[in-house]
Amino acid sequence: MTFLSATLDRVKPSPTIAVTTKAAELKAAGRDVIGLGAGEPDFDTPQNIKDAGIAAINNGKTKYTAVDGIPELKQAICAKFIRDNDLTYTPAQVTVGTGGKQVLYNAFMATLNPGDEVIIPAPYWVSYPDMVLLAGGEPVTVAASLETNFKITPEQLEAAITPQTKWFLFNSPSNPTGAGYSWDELKALTDVLVRHPHVWVMTDDMYEHLAYGDFKFCTPAQVEPSLYDRTLTVNGVSKAYAMTGWRIGYAAGPEPLIKAMRKVQSQSTSNPCSISQYAAVEALNGTQDFLAPNNDMFVRRRDLVVDMLNAAPGIVCPKPEGAFYVYPSIAGCIGKTTAAGTLIDNDETFATALLEETGVAVVFGAAFGLSPNFRVSYATSDAALTEACTRIQTFCKGLS
Ligand SMILES: Cc1ncc(COP(=O)(O)O)c(C=O)c1O
Repeated sequence: MTFLSATLDRVKPSPTIAVTTKAAELKAAGRDVIGLGAGEPDFDTPQNIKDAGIAAINNGKTKYTAVDGIPELKQAICAKFIRDNDLTYTPAQVTVGTGGKQVLYNAFMATLNPGDEVIIPAPYWVSYPDMVLLAGGEPVTVAASLETNFKITPEQLEAAITPQTKWFLFNSPSNPTGAGYSWDELKALTDVLVRHPHVWVMTDDMYEHLAYGDFKFCTPAQVEPSLYDRTLTVNGVSKAYAMTGWRIGYAAGPEPLIKAMRKVQSQSTSNPCSISQYAAVEALNGTQDFLAPNNDMFVRRRDLVVDMLNAAPGIVCPKPEGAFYVYPSIAGCIGKTTAAGTLIDNDETFATALLEETGVAVVFGAAFGLSPNFRVSYATSDAALTEACTRIQTFCKGLS
């Protein structure tokens, strides 16, 4: 339809919608569906944060605010960057948006010109390539492999850089794999970037606090301080604080970039929700005590899911360092036929057959740019995870 923008032709509709829609249809028809697709914690926003939101309403903090965040929140963000990441920023170097998603989008809108390339390791969060396309740039994906636990190598990064490269987009721990880069692994990547001064780093640290066992989170400007002047460090309260619906994300970086991002936001959405901003101040400044018990719970669930999936014939599931996802390979299932007679020729047919035949909803790997795999979100109860993994085992045992 010529009435619609040509830009939209470059963007694909969300490939996850087919599975989500099918799961909803089956549920509505009374089927027992276990959803392992949601990218959000299954626990409630902590009470002290809710109380701060309620107090904001009662205190009349319900009007427009400064376009990219109230001073109290910018201060809290600066304190967080020093506390957690050894990064010093002034409030003028900080921007707050309606979720990490808007912040990432603002950054691309503020910087990309036609032909500019953004290097995106695959598998990637579904929105990255399409955001780049919407902003007029070119996504350049670099495929990680199961053998490297879904992390790209410095050689791969080096090979992907061209004179047109504007950004290297980094996400650790990752959605959809949970893979987290150690200090040394990240240093090997930043060493490459040091040799290419025209390339900037956009790091999506959304899963920073969801880091397990011996794995210690680190971020590019911390590991390689010489990149500070060309790094945008993006983060948010959605995942660690169970605040996905409050819609607060933020970033810090060089002031001219932050100003440009503010300009984009000022002519699109203006300030993020005032009430949510006050709640986010409490999230960042208040007690962090619930993070550790939540992580203990996530580690238990991760181990349960990894062990059960590895016991399913045809599935190989690495144990990731963080987030609340696993990304098993189904290479051993391709070419086989399900008990109900469906040929598994790719990960989409696997996910569809799994849903139709067992009622377990997962997202197929092609949606994240690396196949044949599927993503499981283990942010759900132990009982639901055990039942879902048992059904996956039965499904895989039935393949012939
Ligand atoms: C890797 C990654 N970055 C960013 C976001 C966006 O988070 P927000 O809810 O703050 O927009 C998500 C949400 O799923 C994510 O997984």
